[in-house]
Amino acid sequence: MTGTAADVEISPVKEPSTTTVVTGATDGLGRATALLLAKRGFRVFACGRNAEKRARLEAEARQRQLPLTVLEMDVTRDDSVERALDEIRTQAGPIYAVVNNAGISIVAVAEELRLEHFRQVFETNFFGAVRVTQRVLPEMRRAGRGRIINISSIAGRVALPLFGAYSGSKFALEGFSDALRLEVHPFGIYVSVLEPGFIPTSMQQTAIELSGEYVAGAATSPYARVYKGFVEGWKRRTQGVRATPEDCARVVLRAMTETPPRPRYTVTRGAAWMSFFRRWLSDRAVDRRLLRAFRLE
Ligand SMILES: NC(=O)c1ccc[n+]([C@@H]2O[C@H](COP(=O)([O-])OP(=O)(O)OC[C@H]3O[C@@H](n4cnc5c(N)ncnc54)[C@H](OP(=O)(O)O)[C@@H]3O)[C@@H](O)[C@H]2O)c1
Repeated sequence: MTGTAADVEISPVKEPSTTTVVTGATDGLGRATALLLAKRGFRVFACGRNAEKRARLEAEARQRQLPLTVLEMDVTRDDSVERALDEIRTQAGPIYAVVNNAGISIVAVAEELRLEHFRQVFETNFFGAVRVTQRVLPEMRRAGRGRIINISSIAGRVALPLFGAYSGSKFALEGFSDALRLEVHPFGIYVSVLEPGFIPTSMQQTAIELSGEYVAGAATSPYARVYKGFVEGWKRRTQGVRATPEDCARVVLRAMTETPPRPRYTVTRGAAWMSFFRRWLSDRAVDRRLLRAFRLE
């Protein structure tokens, strides 16, 4: 049976793509985000490095019958990012949204933190997000739609002692996001930044491990008082915090579905307070509060 001319000309209407990439999705905030977005019907590609964690997430997605595929991606490597993005396009067509979530922290005072470690933090938290973003913008421009959601931190607005590398990378991510938001506005692409406060995840243990040499030398460092003040201040600020990765996932979902999304969202009550102080107090007043909080007066 041959088709009519009308049959030939009318191609099926393609649904707008919901293909969404979440980086660093094998654990913590990224994992919760990937699962929630998939549950809400986005076609999610959850990326990360750790094979065991990837397998666990894959099993959970399969068991819950979610539209979620797990892929290997190291955001610090061009070849790894390109391979994963090509695979995503092959499986699900053009990419609609990216949640740049992969992140690490190495904590030490700025004088002692080796340049190599500054670079490691920036390679993941800042250049990782830039690397992925640059590679998905062409297809978003062509589609005339897209969303980039960058997971910064409230430490990307207010720096804490020992956070020179981490806050530096997140301040950079905030600046990058602000410039990008303006540049891609004419193409219908939205850019939002999320600023979570403290949420218990594996990140804190990973940070202690990555910061091993500095932790070991803290007691004999000329900055011993700063390290001690930080540890005590951090404990006071974080104990009893009941925020969960799912709290962050819900805010990502909001940034994915609101039109237009906000340029910035805070996550957790602590972050909302910090953001408020940052906005309304002078630099000196913020310093005074932090010096007091970390016993550095
Ligand atoms: N938890 C908090 O209190 C908090 C507060 C503010 C902001 N944040 C931000 O939220 C994001 C997620 O943090 P989290 O607490 O969920 O940390 P997490 O539990 O340690 O998870 C971090 C994720 O990033 C991935 N990752 C690390 N390096 C990577 C790389 N080179 N390439 C690809 N993936 C990489 C890890 O997966 P693999 O090891 O499998 O690669 C893991 O899935 C980070 O950007 C962090 O800065 C967290």
